[in-house]
Amino acid sequence: MTGVELFMKDQIKQIEGQALAEIASAGDAAAVEALRIKYLGRKGVVADLFKKMGGLAPAEKPGAGQLLNALKNAITKAIDEKSVGSAGEEAGEKLDVTLPGISIHQGRIHPVIKTIYEICDIFISMGFKVVEGPEIETEHYNFEALNIPLEHPSRDAFDTFYLKATSPTSKYLLRSHTSPVQARFMEKNKPPFSILVPGKVYRPDATDASHSFMFHQVEGLAVAGDIHFSDLKGALTAFAKQMFGKNTRMRFRPSFFPFTEPSAEVDISCILCSGVQSTEYREQKRCSLCGGKGWLEILGAGMVNPKVFKNVGYDPEKVTGFAFGMGVERIAILKYGIEDIRMFFENDVRFLRQF
Ligand code: DAH
Repeated sequence: MTGVELFMKDQIKQIEGQALAEIASAGDAAAVEALRIKYLGRKGVVADLFKKMGGLAPAEKPGAGQLLNALKNAITKAIDEKSVGSAGEEAGEKLDVTLPGISIHQGRIHPVIKTIYEICDIFISMGFKVVEGPEIETEHYNFEALNIPLEHPSRDAFDTFYLKATSPTSKYLLRSHTSPVQARFMEKNKPPFSILVPGKVYRPDATDASHSFMFHQVEGLAVAGDIHFSDLKGALTAFAKQMFGKNTRMRFRPSFFPFTEPSAEVDISCILCSGVQSTEYREQKRCSLCGGKGWLEILGAGMVNPKVFKNVGYDPEKVTGFAFGMGVERIAILKYGIEDIRMFFENDVRFLRQF
């Protein structure tokens, strides 16, 4: 550093110290403004120093320039900070650091999707893999391939939204269940396999607390050389215990589905009253969840009907399989004690944030 620079540096330090002290003790906005003019104004202290710099030798100018710029920045910063503080104070708004901040809400996974993940995780741990199928389906896959013949009363149970568009061979509709993906998958794959099919389904039901024209299902299908009803029971019991707690008991009631034979409707012991209360209790108090029955229906299931195997080109003498289908909203309603299916679709964040 040259002697001139050293001298300037000293002088600048001194000016900076004085300026910062004056700014710090300025009592109001007018005083701060006066200091701004004194130091940063066109005829102010800093401008004066820049002018003096003109008389320096060319080699000394860059170093001196740097020092002056640093001085200017330091004073500007001090004045700006002071202005912000005093502006608020003058308006009578003291900065209250204890006030709660504006929180940014994090998005979260929708309870229906969360429930699908939970269901899938459990079956994936048993070796199932997840596949998907189209929501716009043909009559063929939604019905015929699954042994639900045209004009058969069982079609009423799968009342359907039809689309205007038709293909040369089949009518299009919004699938009324995830079961059509069973047929689609089997046509393209050879056993053994275990698949899980989550997705949206549509039915023209009037909306109320337990019905929605759109809801979600998870379908399961396992096919191999010799699969038994006991495999189905084992898989579903393991699922129910993991989903609803290890003391959950299962009940299989004989039922009818065209695509399974035999078929069953599957109940779990009530997760509120466990279904173990005395008959008197059941009759007098009535559990608000199961209505005193002690059981809650959670899904339909059965052994794949040999006719379905034939429809997809499998030899029913060589393979067997089980299938099941469950409503995701129903599982979530039971698990989380939700009273109305419409809550899932109203997008009220007060509801959604609880999951
Ligand atoms: N698809 C049926 C429904 O929507 C549910 C179902 C029942 C699926 C039995 C199955 C099954 O795979 O085996 O009501």
